[in-house]
Amino acid sequence: MDRTLFIVKPDGVERGLIGEIIGRLEAKQLRIVAAEMRLIDVKTAERHYAEHHGKPYYDKLVEFMTQGPALVTIVEGPDNTWQVVRGLMGATNAKDATPGTIRGDLAIGLRENLVHGSDSAESAQREIDIFFPDLV
Ligand code: TYD
Ligand code: MG
Repeated sequence: MDRTLFIVKPDGVERGLIGEIIGRLEAKQLRIVAAEMRLIDVKTAERHYAEHHGKPYYDKLVEFMTQGPALVTIVEGPDNTWQVVRGLMGATNAKDATPGTIRGDLAIGLRENLVHGSDSAESAQREIDIFFPDLV
């Protein structure tokens, strides 16, 4: 089995889309093996998005991720589950995301794009360690 980090971002929680979004992962036969509603602090958001440090959108991104509670989860499935989850999410810029994807169906923004999913096996391990350091 393989695990990846998946977050319903503050806009998704605020809009009441947790059930809709998690339902799509469950319908795909992925399993939620950890989940916590959490107000992500600035330090954690900065660690999580370290690769974006210095980008013009970085400050607003950190502000957005810490503006309200997010649902932070670990999703489990077969090999390369991170890739399956990324497929369900759709393109980063929601206005360009394919219909049928979470972003394509439910969002239209770039920053406010509802969800985060790890973008590689290495990112998945790094991000799970950031958000669930005590997990065995
Ligand atoms: P990125 O890792 O490129 O996208 P993804 O979430 O699909 O892995 O970027 C992280 C987040 O940063 C993205 O979800 C939204 C935000 N962002 C912007 O606000 N502006 C931008 O130009 C980019 C590239 C990302
Ligand atoms: Mg990313």
